[in-house]
Amino acid sequence: MNHENQLQNKITVIDKEVTWDKTQVIMSKTNAFGIIEYANEVFVDVSGYEDYELMGQPHNIIRHPDMPKVIFKVLWENLKQGKNFHAIVKNLAKSGRYYWVITDFEIAKDENGVIVNYFGRRQAVPHEVISLHIEPLYRKLLQIEAASGVEFSEKYLIGFLEEKKRSYVEYIKELILEHEKSQSKFVQYEQQLLEEDEEEERGFFRRLFNR
Ligand SMILES: Cc1cc2nc3c(=O)[nH]c(=O)nc-3n(C[C@H](O)[C@H](O)[C@H](O)COP(=O)(O)O)c2cc1C
Repeated sequence: MNHENQLQNKITVIDKEVTWDKTQVIMSKTNAFGIIEYANEVFVDVSGYEDYELMGQPHNIIRHPDMPKVIFKVLWENLKQGKNFHAIVKNLAKSGRYYWVITDFEIAKDENGVIVNYFGRRQAVPHEVISLHIEPLYRKLLQIEAASGVEFSEKYLIGFLEEKKRSYVEYIKELILEHEKSQSKFVQYEQQLLEEDEEEERGFFRRLFNR
């Protein structure tokens, strides 16, 4: 058992979210094997680890047991090919709490085109996207993995996405975009109601005083 597993095994998972500033970007840099070489202050704050506990550790130090293996399989397939990948990931803080993020990667290669570093940026994901779409999907994938292994969770994921006629990245981007649209519609609607209220109020005062 390596040091990382020892750390992970000590953690008791708590079904509570980390409280964090969701406008911030959580950033880390790894070598080609996913060993952490740098983590920004936000990473340290949100994960609850000290810098010295993170550096030199595999990135799965923050792996949450609710995450299906297949998502990391697809993530690494893309990264190793030098392709960026967006994934929605539930991470495990040292406290045992969780935090959901969406990833964005940059890949650094040497002069021979060999990958030397990965840079991972993560941002918060709207709660509704997680609770309505991602949690139910990941729960299914996890159950399939427990029963029949990652080979079949991958088949399920492929079937699920085929039905939606989307790749995984297209699917999650669309979920976030749809959410943002509904939010701006909601804001516009709220604004409209407010304006109508103000108009009504003006009418009310006019009626009251200007007769
Ligand atoms: C730059 C970079 C950032 C990563 N960020 C995360 C992350 O935030 N959470 C996570 O669970 N895995 C992350 N991973 C993937 C991990 O390396 C690992 O594959 C994952 O935690 C699953 O663990 P496992 O491969 O041991 O099953 C990242 C990998 C790289 C290269």
